[in-house]
Amino acid sequence: MVNTAEGEISREIFVNDELFEQEKERIFTRAWLYVGHESQIKKPGDFFVSKMGAESVILTRDFAGKIHVFLNSCAHRGMRVCRYDEGNTRAFRCPYHAWTYKTDGTLIGVQDYDNAYQPPFDKSEWGLVEVAQLANYMGTIWATWDKNAPSFEEYLGEATIAFDQGLCAWDGGDGGTELLGSVQKWIVPCNWKFVAENFAGDWLHGVSHRSVDMIRLGPSGEVGRRDDFGRLVVTAYPDGHGILYSVYPNKKTRTEYAMSPETSEYFQYCWERRLKNLGETAGTCPLVGTIFPNMSFHAQQPRTLLVSHPTGANETEMWRTYFVDKEAPEDVKQFLREYYMRYSGPAGMTEQDDMENWNYASAASRGTIARRRPYHYKAGLGVGGPHDDLPGVVTEQPITTEQNPRFFYKRWADYMDMDSWGELLDARTVSSQG
Ligand code: FES
Ligand code: FE
Repeated sequence: MVNTAEGEISREIFVNDELFEQEKERIFTRAWLYVGHESQIKKPGDFFVSKMGAESVILTRDFAGKIHVFLNSCAHRGMRVCRYDEGNTRAFRCPYHAWTYKTDGTLIGVQDYDNAYQPPFDKSEWGLVEVAQLANYMGTIWATWDKNAPSFEEYLGEATIAFDQGLCAWDGGDGGTELLGSVQKWIVPCNWKFVAENFAGDWLHGVSHRSVDMIRLGPSGEVGRRDDFGRLVVTAYPDGHGILYSVYPNKKTRTEYAMSPETSEYFQYCWERRLKNLGETAGTCPLVGTIFPNMSFHAQQPRTLLVSHPTGANETEMWRTYFVDKEAPEDVKQFLREYYMRYSGPAGMTEQDDMENWNYASAASRGTIARRRPYHYKAGLGVGGPHDDLPGVVTEQPITTEQNPRFFYKRWADYMDMDSWGELLDARTVSSQG
């Protein structure tokens, strides 16, 4: 079904319910998945209800300060233990029969325990199900259900360089970022992989955004939807991650944001500091990327993070969070909030362009005749290779390429085919051909 050598991929993997069930087992119980951000659970007892694949999980901080991720399903008879989106609690009390769990997951309260259970059962064996591994990477919280998965750092592999830049402050320093508000959530009738491959580096679809360019959606007030793109470079990794970079050789100044002089000034200040902080690499800026399987990020402006949670072969829950530099002035944060909202999310016009494509492509691919034909991913076949400045397999403008989706689907097929992490790690040794 996935022929990356020829650049042809069966439509079945986007529409077939049986394959979707297999994906849940083979990908979403094994891969590292993004769960939330540390700043969402600052205090003991704070919780944020998230998802891993199609399943609800609770991200929480216990009263010793430790971070946990639990399956949001009661050990008694499966009720959703926490039905709120986020908040603070001393304990999680199940609404069904009132079993009560501490924020570290241990079962502490069972109704009529002394009378009803003869002999008494061991409560320590009936706590909430906890993930096998958890990682806090620069404030982002990741988890996997698989104890044999490699460390998160190894999983991220060579995509680290781009992801680090997406998470550090705009000046390349460690001032840190914070969330604007909480999470925007909405549903798109499409397969989750349309979303993941798009942000892995599908630069050919820029034509879809022509209208937002024409109405000057971007912060500069000029034609275009964002600061200038520079020269586009894509890098793909055998782990399935894909990053699209903007390269600005010798750039000294940032674009003026006519609608907000404070923002222009702030980004100019950041850019000058970035040149100092990052030296020669300052001009190589990650723009968007996907960390396999379903976490995508925009690393510049807008700076956001999107998880495409699969809920069915033809339905995806989109969860998007928005980031700004902690140290940015309030005026700048407010200006960016408005720009982000008109760019991304359910009301964002650029996001709407993309969603229209995924929605209609999904619907038009489900028919009996439609399924007979594979999708076409042949752009830039065999062109990509090693690069002096960037890791992974690299293709640069002016050559257009679909190498990043090809790497993404190659990895998808690895997970679907291979039973052990040993095999999955060995399979990363691939040819340098894009
Ligand atoms: Fe939770 Fe019964 S299902 S207490
Ligand atoms: Fe797009």
